[in-house]
Amino acid sequence: MSGTPSTPARPSGGDDPTAGKSFRTPIGTHDLAPPESGRWVALLGTFIGAADRAGFGYLQTPIFEDIGVFSRIGEGTDVVGKEMYEFADRSDRRLALRPEGTASVCRAFAQHRPTTPWKVWYQGPFFRYEAPQAGRYRQFHQIGAETLGTDDPDADVEIIALTAEFFGAIGLQRVPLLLNSMGDADTRLAYGEALTSYLQRRADDVDPADRDKIERHPLRILDSKRAATAAVAAEAPQITDFLSGETAAHFERVRAGLDALGIEHAVEPKLVRGLDYYTRTTFEFRAASLDAAQDTICGGGRYNGLVEALGGPPTPGIGFALGIERLLLACDAEGVFDVPAQRAEVWVIDTAGGAAARDLTHQLRSVGVRADRAFDDRSIRAQMRAADRSGAEIALIVGTDEIDAGTVTVRPLRHADGGSTDMPQQTVPRSELLGTLRTVFDVLNAPAPASGDSSNPA
Ligand code: HAM
Repeated sequence: MSGTPSTPARPSGGDDPTAGKSFRTPIGTHDLAPPESGRWVALLGTFIGAADRAGFGYLQTPIFEDIGVFSRIGEGTDVVGKEMYEFADRSDRRLALRPEGTASVCRAFAQHRPTTPWKVWYQGPFFRYEAPQAGRYRQFHQIGAETLGTDDPDADVEIIALTAEFFGAIGLQRVPLLLNSMGDADTRLAYGEALTSYLQRRADDVDPADRDKIERHPLRILDSKRAATAAVAAEAPQITDFLSGETAAHFERVRAGLDALGIEHAVEPKLVRGLDYYTRTTFEFRAASLDAAQDTICGGGRYNGLVEALGGPPTPGIGFALGIERLLLACDAEGVFDVPAQRAEVWVIDTAGGAAARDLTHQLRSVGVRADRAFDDRSIRAQMRAADRSGAEIALIVGTDEIDAGTVTVRPLRHADGGSTDMPQQTVPRSELLGTLRTVFDVLNAPAPASGDSSNPA
């Protein structure tokens, strides 16, 4: 596409001021590389299993959308008002990088009108222009799930249970669940008035940095971390006292459902969340092992008016999103869900130029064996060291003798559990290699004998 007048010209050729500069990730963003990335893959795999069993299908929406999609989250929220990455594309469309997933899911629902209940999950990068610190990034990653088209309190329970099951599956234990209800529009109106007049009376006691919120966004006062403000918030009227009969009954049904499933929770009437679209249920899982500034690893709730606000039919919805980076910080703090070991099963050592290693690794991978090799025609010692580092149970050695005779030397290196082995090496015809490997693996996959030296050179 050629540049429009509003598109600044890009430097080309010799004019490029970044020529010769080395680049780093933008502030607040990170590369994700092995072995840590293996942990993300395992985490996603665990979640996919849980979501699949609960009947949620995968939804992928664009990373950027019309800015209007996100304005519906609430112009007064920090997420939209202060933190959104907004831009005009080359045709002057107003777009934004997605700061969260729920608005996009509702936009997709309004666009495609699927049959309900529509149960979807999503994952990927999200963007907020926040001050970067541990657990708070400008590009972060969420896993989320949403159920659209039902107001049944059991749908709220199902969403919360999915999260709780996932945390259990990865071994997290110290993640208490806090629950609240925001009621309906009438509740918010009545409560907003009561809260504002209370805060106006206590304005002098509120931390000066929070005072502008009394008129602008009184609910935000309730989750301020500043001590003076928190003391005022502690005595504020509670939203749970303003619930209508219907919303109070919904809340009680959700609580009873959680109790029935053995999901512990505490009611926290000051839990208001940072997004404006919530009605009825809101909840957060907070990691007891993390600092208060980043201890919310998962948040969610009902948003019964959002689909309509995005041009769809009136459609209730409930969902959650969890921050993967924060979740893993909590895993580290609890010492659970380690980086999974990624090791080869077979390492091919080729001292005759590399062609045999190329062919054998290819053949073994095609029958499901994790096989690898060194490149660059290294010495046999260097290749043996690489085999040891890889953690492989078996080395296959091919030199000129083996090539001339059409054979491979099979050298057992260690048991699958890392224990050492004294199983002798054997040289076998290529045609018998797979059969021999199967036999050797059977021995090595059994635990190493107790008397054996279990120190693992890898
Ligand atoms: P949220 O509370 O804004 O809710 O974000 C959900 C989670 O994303 C947070 O609890 C946190 O773990 C993570 N998170 C948010 N901002 C950052 C950041 N800058 N750096 C690292 N992690 C972050 C939502 O996004 C709603 N869409 C949740 C929802 C789904 N409600 C209903 N359905």
